[in-house]
Amino acid sequence: MSIIIDNLISYPEFIPMLAHWFHAEWGHFHPQTTLEQRIAKLKKRCTQTGGLPLTLVARMGDHVVGTASLVKHDMEVHLELTPWLSSVYVDKTYRRQGIGSQLVKRIVQEAEHTNAKRLYLFTPDRKSFYARMGWQLLYREKYRGQQVTLMEIRTAAK
Ligand SMILES: CC(C)(COP(=O)(O)OP(=O)(O)OC[C@H]1O[C@@H](n2cnc3c(N)ncnc32)[C@H](O)[C@@H]1OP(=O)(O)O)[C@@H](O)C(=O)NCCC(=O)NCCS
Repeated sequence: MSIIIDNLISYPEFIPMLAHWFHAEWGHFHPQTTLEQRIAKLKKRCTQTGGLPLTLVARMGDHVVGTASLVKHDMEVHLELTPWLSSVYVDKTYRRQGIGSQLVKRIVQEAEHTNAKRLYLFTPDRKSFYARMGWQLLYREKYRGQQVTLMEIRTAAK
């Protein structure tokens, strides 16, 4: 079965799974945020049409296998940079099949459609994954107790 990438707005039933993934993977960055708060935040995201934040889901039939988001800000210490690729996650069973790369490329296209000339991300440990897709090193710094790499990519927007 093929992978289809869609807007989360059309698939609110995927929200609990996304929240569970985010909580398990990145809970340590925001230890005060509960699973219920993550669910509520994603539900709110689904009530607003157009603009940012935008969350894409990769689905196989009625089953969610991955996600990525385009958000205005992802690091409160870098409000001068916008927009950001955020929350890229692929279900463990479906990794190393190109789904993560497809999601990242779709988010870059979505950023282009908003006329953003550059897009930013931070990653604790997946620099090479993004570098392979043309993302370039911007800074290395400590963020919320962890060493992270900030990266940027130029979009095709003029
Ligand atoms: C990072 C993550 C999103 C990648 O998702 P993915 O679907 O496995 O991504 P891809 O398949 O496109 O690429 C992953 C690797 O598989 C390789 N790959 C892609 N298709 C492949 C295939 N058919 N066969 C073998 N390897 C393949 C890619 O070359 C890539 O290698 P690299 O990591 O050395 O660059 C996923 O590992 C994940 O969710 N990790 C936990 C959350 C996380 O760290 N997110 C990033 C936060 S910054």
